[in-house]
Amino acid sequence: MDRFIIEGNRELSGTISVSGAKNAILPVMAACLLAPGKSVLRNVPNLIDLKTMSHLLRVLGARVEYENGMMSIDSRDVCFFEAPYELVSKMRASIYVLGPLLARLGEARVSFPGGCAIGTRPVDLHLKAMEALGADITIEHGYIHARAEKLTGAPIHFEKSSVGATINAIMAAVLASGTTQIFNAAMEPEVDSTVEMLNKMGARIQGCGSTTLTIEGVEQLFPVEMEMISDRIEAGTFLIAGALSTKPVTVENCLPGHLDALLEKLRAAGCELEVAERSITVIPPEVIKPVNILTLPYPGFPTDLQAQFTVLMSLAEGVSFIEDTIFPDRFMHVAELNRLQADIRMERNVATVKGVKQLSGAEVMATDLRASAALVLAGLVAKGSTIVSRIYHIDRGYDRIEEKLNAIGARITRENA
Ligand code: UD1
Repeated sequence: MDRFIIEGNRELSGTISVSGAKNAILPVMAACLLAPGKSVLRNVPNLIDLKTMSHLLRVLGARVEYENGMMSIDSRDVCFFEAPYELVSKMRASIYVLGPLLARLGEARVSFPGGCAIGTRPVDLHLKAMEALGADITIEHGYIHARAEKLTGAPIHFEKSSVGATINAIMAAVLASGTTQIFNAAMEPEVDSTVEMLNKMGARIQGCGSTTLTIEGVEQLFPVEMEMISDRIEAGTFLIAGALSTKPVTVENCLPGHLDALLEKLRAAGCELEVAERSITVIPPEVIKPVNILTLPYPGFPTDLQAQFTVLMSLAEGVSFIEDTIFPDRFMHVAELNRLQADIRMERNVATVKGVKQLSGAEVMATDLRASAALVLAGLVAKGSTIVSRIYHIDRGYDRIEEKLNAIGARITRENA
């Protein structure tokens, strides 16, 4: 199992580039099931989660090829409708095939995703949306079995904002007969980019970027080519790395409009920011000011940057409060950060972070994707060396993170232990 050895206290400076957004690519890959033929996605990074989704699409009968950031998905021969446990248990986003399979084949059997390191993650909203469109759902032997001869457009009211359920509902509704309206739809950029792709394929979805979407079902969708948006969470992780440094760091190939909530908090922490069309330069403060964080659905502060921002706050001059309202149990990184001599106390879903002068290198364990990114950031600024084990988590969502950070001054070695 690979681990990172990070030499701490090094100065980062220069330009670092952001890859395509994993969380935008995963649903778009599933959406390719809806348009028989070969679709092509560009700006696709080399990530374990995308390999897992490719594997799943192949199991369903698609041909998937990947080379040099370009992925082609030929879904002409898709005829199987089961997403097996061994793939769904590796990656919860496998649930994204539920809507498309139902819409295209009239049947889907998807293993019930279990819990994961960031807490219980139910799929009830996905299932309610499918039922609203007329699917008959049963749960048997750990599998969700959904059937519908033909889905029918209907109103769908989400009681809670969910990225995954919104996207699944859209993908099921695009080929349904009649009109579907989705209320309280999630507004994350990953929803918008899926809508853009589907509309390019011939779907009729209106209301993009708002909480109410109207979908007029169409008979057929057609394969397309599309450039994937850049990853706002990877960009945010690098901006926080810059904020922790002593020299300016420029994050390029990013979409600043997707990062407003983070930029506001970085400014409040004392960072100076130079925002251009496709890049942001962060000039770190001499003294990091404490800032409170409340994670919320987009355009609020993303839960996927909570762990990384906690690292920044662990070095602030004062106390900050960090609350996760999306995944209340997503604080596995706290115990590991405290091993690096951070001073963080947990009470329910609120972390009280008392800034310390310096973190101190130690052996820590990555528990989930974003927590691992946080531990890498902490290792970069800690005194001495930090060993982060179980970094397969980080490879799920960051393409060559050590190479990218080393190019701006970090010293991170990947070791097979
Ligand atoms: C996506 C992202 C994940 C991010 C999360 C929130 C992908 C592949 N993953 O996950 O990185 O952290 O959005 O921005 O894009 N919920 C229910 N019932 C459901 C579905 C969700 O109660 O059926 C709850 C969840 O437990 C959570 C909240 O709704 O409290 C939001 O979750 P959701 O937006 O669905 O997250 P994902 O789409 O799984």
